[in-house]
Amino acid sequence: MPFPFERPRRLRENPVLRGMIRETVLRADQLIAPLFVKEGISSPQQIPSMPGIFQFPLKELVDEASQLWKKGIKAVLLFGIPVQKDKHASSGLDKNGVLQNAIRAIKNKCPELVVMTDVCLCEFTDHGHCGVVGEKNRIENDPSLELLAGMALSHAQAGADVVAPSDMMDGRVFKIRKSLDENGFQNIPIMSYAVKYASSFYGPFRVAAESAPQFGDRKTYQMDGSNRREALREAALDEQEGADILMIKPALPCLDIIADVRRQTTLPIAAYQVSGEYAMIATAAEKGFLDKQQAVLESLTAIKRAGADLIVTYFAKEIVDELK
Ligand code: PBG
Repeated sequence: MPFPFERPRRLRENPVLRGMIRETVLRADQLIAPLFVKEGISSPQQIPSMPGIFQFPLKELVDEASQLWKKGIKAVLLFGIPVQKDKHASSGLDKNGVLQNAIRAIKNKCPELVVMTDVCLCEFTDHGHCGVVGEKNRIENDPSLELLAGMALSHAQAGADVVAPSDMMDGRVFKIRKSLDENGFQNIPIMSYAVKYASSFYGPFRVAAESAPQFGDRKTYQMDGSNRREALREAALDEQEGADILMIKPALPCLDIIADVRRQTTLPIAAYQVSGEYAMIATAAEKGFLDKQQAVLESLTAIKRAGADLIVTYFAKEIVDELK
């Protein structure tokens, strides 16, 4: 046989043909934009480690959400920063809390936009942990579940379309499902952060959400980055407990995990391109070290190619026009 018998380059020569055989195509309607809403501020505050990303007061948040909708983004994931924090995250369960008010205001102005909410205690607790702190500073699992279920219910009551628990306590998907169902919200889906590693790439987010733990770290509840089989176990548990969408994060460091979970489940999978992933690309681009648009498209395509259906990304707004 004459060498080279196979020539894969044949299909790369013509750009039109190259487009026709493209396997992975990003869709604007599968992007989810995270948004931060903060009480007690009167103008948007830029987050230093995340150029282009802001904490918004309520009014500007609603403007931003409707702009996103007009640009073709179908869903937002809301994070709230309250004025009042305490041991038990009380302000997170308040029907007039920062998130509850934000949900109502957005749904009022922009009813079709899918409003997803982060369900977690860390933004609302004075200690910054995602669960209740017990003796010897242990993060207590079961007492946290009541609070998380109450928080998810209050988001649904305010009009949230999807609740997204990000705390990584055991059994929380079941408790949240139960509390939603018992209160008439059988049709509100749960997008669980099923596989969430204890990652340094959440650093910029903790500044944005003012949710850094005041002591210790999150390693007793978030996963060890060395573990692969455990991811399948976490994903299976959340599915059994009633999750409707399984999320994996961070995204780019976990492409293997996204692919593994894709093989295990028939549920839709979401991946979260987290704050540190955003900061790396955004700051390298600012310095002129790489082409931002190309880097964003490449990373999002890789995440989708690995098996994610939905992608939560801080680049949603600036990349959406490229996908048309
Ligand atoms: C917890 C939460 C975190 C993120 C989403 N939900 C941070 C954490 O676990 O400390 C990280 C998102 C990001 O880095 O962009 N409420």
